[in-house]
Amino acid sequence: MRHLLSIEDLDRAGIERICDRAASFAEVADRSIKKVPALRGRTVLNLFYESSTRTRSSFELAAKRLSADVVNFAASGSSVEKGESLRDTVQTLAAHRPHAIVVRTPWAGASQLITNWTDAAIVNAGDGQHEHPTQALLDVYTLRSRLGSLDGLDVWIVGDVRHSRVARSLVLALQTMGATVTVCGPPTLVPRDIAVLGCDVRYTLDELPRADVVYALRMQNERMEQAYVPTLREYAAVYQIDARRLGPDQLLMHPGPVNRGVELAGDVVDGPRSLILDQVRAGVLVRMAVLFEVLAGREDGPRPTAPPTQETPA
Ligand code: NCD
Repeated sequence: MRHLLSIEDLDRAGIERICDRAASFAEVADRSIKKVPALRGRTVLNLFYESSTRTRSSFELAAKRLSADVVNFAASGSSVEKGESLRDTVQTLAAHRPHAIVVRTPWAGASQLITNWTDAAIVNAGDGQHEHPTQALLDVYTLRSRLGSLDGLDVWIVGDVRHSRVARSLVLALQTMGATVTVCGPPTLVPRDIAVLGCDVRYTLDELPRADVVYALRMQNERMEQAYVPTLREYAAVYQIDARRLGPDQLLMHPGPVNRGVELAGDVVDGPRSLILDQVRAGVLVRMAVLFEVLAGREDGPRPTAPPTQETPA
């Protein structure tokens, strides 16, 4: 795999391969020295035009645990604030010859565009409302670790589907892995054409009890130019996942950050059915696997040898 721009770059075997490799890295996370030499001498550039807590920290940790050198670039505080374009910024930073660039931008398709401006491997860490493939991979990994397989699993994705890049990548990844997906939310926040992805669409939670997994999405206020719901209070009254709506056998997921009291009640976030922190932990392992994958295939990349489990000094 040269780049990871879309979850559609991976078929089922590809998703399984990344999850298997992520699992082989899990043991590294439990060591006192959490480092292997797999990407020693490689440089990974994290290029973030949008705020991020989980994705950015886990890509940084992932690269460091593989012994790569990491440059973190945030648009705020950079020459972007002086008006430098995306292309000039990428070409400037590409002059440092990074082997991989991890990109988050508010613009759909930006990571694809960047592949034309540099030889580095590009990993899409979220492009506007379009895609977030590594989030989908870490969610698949989390469920696979918990349940063994996703075949026949019934997953409901509830909330602001319209503005969610997570939803688009996740629906495709879950279906590829054999799950059945239903998306649910108010009609204003669930675009009708989402059904072309092959998922079911519901506008009420009436059938939620049949779900094995409830995946709540954040209300993306920062992407809304108009009012999509009367008030957050009324939205929460109809769609919030709380202890009353979440069954004792249902698992709960959310990509973070959570708006407590809006899409999720605080008690279910912290409750025993919640996989939210497992998702965060999986993020580092899956991003290690993705960086390894895009760099291992390169001519000047690391040797794609057996899983690098040897302990080395930091
Ligand atoms: C998501 C994102 O940025 O798309 N968060 C994440 O990467 N963990 C979801 C969100 O912001 O709601």
